[in-house]
Amino acid sequence: MKMHSTLLALAIHAGAAASPATDRFLAADGIVVGSAPAVPATVDDAGWASAMATSVVVAPQSTVTLNDKGANAFRQSPAPGNVVVRAIASPTELGVLLEWDDATENRFVGETDSYGDSAAIEMPVAFGAGQRLPYIGMGDAGSHVVVHMVRAMDQGKVTTRHAVAAGFGSLTAAPLGWMKTGMAWQPKTKRWRALFVRPLKAPEHSVDAAIVPIAFALWDGARDQRGGNKVLSAWHVLRLPGRAPDATYVAELAFGYGDGDVGDAARGQAMVEAICLSCHRIGAKGYSPPDLAPELTNVGVLSSYSYLRDSVMTPSAALVPNLNVNRHQDRTKPKDDNGAHAHGSLGAFAVNDGSGTAQSVMPGFGAMPKEQVADIVAYLKTLGRAPSSPPSPGATP
Ligand code: HEC
Repeated sequence: MKMHSTLLALAIHAGAAASPATDRFLAADGIVVGSAPAVPATVDDAGWASAMATSVVVAPQSTVTLNDKGANAFRQSPAPGNVVVRAIASPTELGVLLEWDDATENRFVGETDSYGDSAAIEMPVAFGAGQRLPYIGMGDAGSHVVVHMVRAMDQGKVTTRHAVAAGFGSLTAAPLGWMKTGMAWQPKTKRWRALFVRPLKAPEHSVDAAIVPIAFALWDGARDQRGGNKVLSAWHVLRLPGRAPDATYVAELAFGYGDGDVGDAARGQAMVEAICLSCHRIGAKGYSPPDLAPELTNVGVLSSYSYLRDSVMTPSAALVPNLNVNRHQDRTKPKDDNGAHAHGSLGAFAVNDGSGTAQSVMPGFGAMPKEQVADIVAYLKTLGRAPSSPPSPGATP
């Protein structure tokens, strides 16, 4: 209730007519950032108690299979978890504190088969009205993301990495200024806390804005998670204090929360099962060869409503970016001089038709009646949700 009235006040402050859709969007996907003269500098600083705690659902990124049986089994697991997010802004810094359950403390000790527990926050390089959100799994060629990552190391140490990414397997170390980080596992609660403090304005990336898209990723060393094998959230937005949000941008992001944006999930399920399973698998459902198309088991947790709509209507405009080359190798082909197998066409999600832009191999359903697309989107958004965490759509004000 408190959050609701704060957001309402902010919307009015911005001069925007507080629409039910933007209100619902900010209540569902917004993370209210607290304000303080200085960001609390450690994971257990009492100052964090003043920040509002928001629980964000995460699910395994099950889009493609890996060359790892155990990891694949985990990625098919239907149970999403959650990460509790707190954020505080000072006049010059942004601090984000993540907290999540993990039964074991795993630290990277430099052996090839030991994996450290890790966490990352991801933000678009460019965002604002008219800017499409990057692909959730590390961005895409047309829309890059900044990733701040921490990993638990031997002897209580933490490594921190900044990167700019433009798709799976494309992390490039980036000069993003300084960063303070911390990580601590609480034996009593069996929970990790990870802290990221960065300048609001870094040399190559400013987050000094009213609305900043953000997503979260966690790696569990006990489950051999690393690289693309992780749990991930959908895009959320940080709502920074004392800044007026751009009503146009918020309205764009709020698609899915307006009356009539999404339809009936049961009708959508019937349509998806009739026309989409020839290419896509949804857990045990589907008969297509694996990796012909993305596995949709968790697509509802990982995607925004607008991404799902665009994926169905205009697939080439919402492309799942090319995957790590390792996943494309055809192991029946001989190795080249570098020891790599040639790429097979199976699992190529897009082709270059000579136009210069990659075209999805998925047929677009842009000609489908709007109501049917709305039903399909309603169903897709339920995928990966635990029964106890229904999506909070615009349908129920
Ligand atoms: C001919 C095979 C084919 C059919 C039929 C098909 N798709 Fe796809 N779909 C793909 C491929 C390949 C991709 C990956 C490339 C892209 O993003 O467009 C994809 C991507 C997607 C994505 C994005 C997935 C992600 O992980 O982000 C969604 C959502 C989706 N399809 C939904 C559907 C729905 C709903 C239908 C039925 C109405 C459907 N698809 C029919 C092949 C297909």
